Amino acid sequence: MLKFSYENSGITQNELVAYFESVSNAHKALHGKTGAGNEFTGWVDLPSNYDREECERIRQTAEIIRGNSDVLLVCGIGGSYLGARAGIEFLKGNFHNHKQGVQVYFIGNNLSPDYLGDLLDYVRDKRISVCVVSKSGTTLEPAAAFRFARELMESKYGKTEAAERIYAITDREKGALKKLADASGYATFAVPDDIGGRYSVLTAVGLLPLAVAGADIAQILEGAQTAAENFSDENVLNNMCYQYAAIRNILLGRGKNIEILAGFEPSLRFFAEWWKQLFGESEGKNHKGIFPASVEFSTDLHSLGQYIQDGTRNIFETVLKIGSPNREMVIPSNSKDGDGLDFLDGKNMSFVNEMARQGTVQAHEAGGVPNLLVEIPKRDENSFGQLVYFFEKACAISGYLLGVNPFDQPGVEEYKKKMYALLKSKNPVL
Ligand code: PA5
Repeated sequence: MLKFSYENSGITQNELVAYFESVSNAHKALHGKTGAGNEFTGWVDLPSNYDREECERIRQTAEIIRGNSDVLLVCGIGGSYLGARAGIEFLKGNFHNHKQGVQVYFIGNNLSPDYLGDLLDYVRDKRISVCVVSKSGTTLEPAAAFRFARELMESKYGKTEAAERIYAITDREKGALKKLADASGYATFAVPDDIGGRYSVLTAVGLLPLAVAGADIAQILEGAQTAAENFSDENVLNNMCYQYAAIRNILLGRGKNIEILAGFEPSLRFFAEWWKQLFGESEGKNHKGIFPASVEFSTDLHSLGQYIQDGTRNIFETVLKIGSPNREMVIPSNSKDGDGLDFLDGKNMSFVNEMARQGTVQAHEAGGVPNLLVEIPKRDENSFGQLVYFFEKACAISGYLLGVNPFDQPGVEEYKKKMYALLKSKNPVL
């Protein structure tokens, strides 16, 4: 079961009590669909009322892809890719593409010709399926990459077979991608109208790539449902998810305007990327918000660790702890050769990693960095579902406490306007 605690944060229960009413109001606004952006709160009840038929179709499609493909190219950006990538690395580890099964690669999340060209060259001779994801259907990055992917598929398989190997996840009715998919005969999956990009990981957007990678998507949804039940009490003292949301705001009030999500497992890297998008895009508006950052320990203790310990004191840390590893490794004895670390002999790597975690929390707390802790038993589907739901709900409540609409992203349009103007300009400066 997912647990949240704040013993090392310097926050007292009395301070949480002061948030009793505002948290309860935020809860009512979210569940009663009366808050800002309420048209995008379909994810709140998704774990209990998701479309069962669509989910079965996702499973069947994943089986087809697993049977006829070596590679799945997932083409999307932001909320249309980070959840799937986060989930696959979380569950399958950093080397999932080197193990048995379908390799899943991501395109359309940048505009680099080097990245796209190198990846397409690598997969060209393999058996390929493509999953193009865009809720709006008009986002430039995936649209540009998809042109290349479609060209590759049609030249490799011909139009008819290519169409059978291309899947589109987009709006149920509107948008350029929906039109293109219908005209070309691609199978489509819907991003529900009331769920925005960064809250869409438990829809086909995340579930199809996850199922292709071999994840048990029923277990993911079950984990999310467990979290939905466990974090449904409007009383902040009984709801760990709301405690996290409130404490973030208390810390922000104390000048802690940077939150670092810290993991001790490299397979959490993309989970942290998903988390950064969730909080950054949801809260960073009206000149408000906490800047979400992430680190991978113990790697980054040897780089950013110095700053966290001793730099500007505007940081707090949320540590993501995994109860037990998926495998154990015992450190061989080395006393004869003498590296001076005899105390390591025969110890489990996971024990050493845990001591690094505890030592880091002690050091950072002593250095003035409040520490929060989110714990899950292990890296499995159920925990992934719980984590996703925990953070989605905490983000919504935290956004309401902050006084912003956590479901829009007006700021994202600004770079697009400028980029489009430059792209359409007759005399761009190079
Ligand atoms: O959370 C969001 O809404 C955004 O990050 C979008 O997911 C991202 O911009 C991609 O949009 P689309 O799915 O419309 O291509």
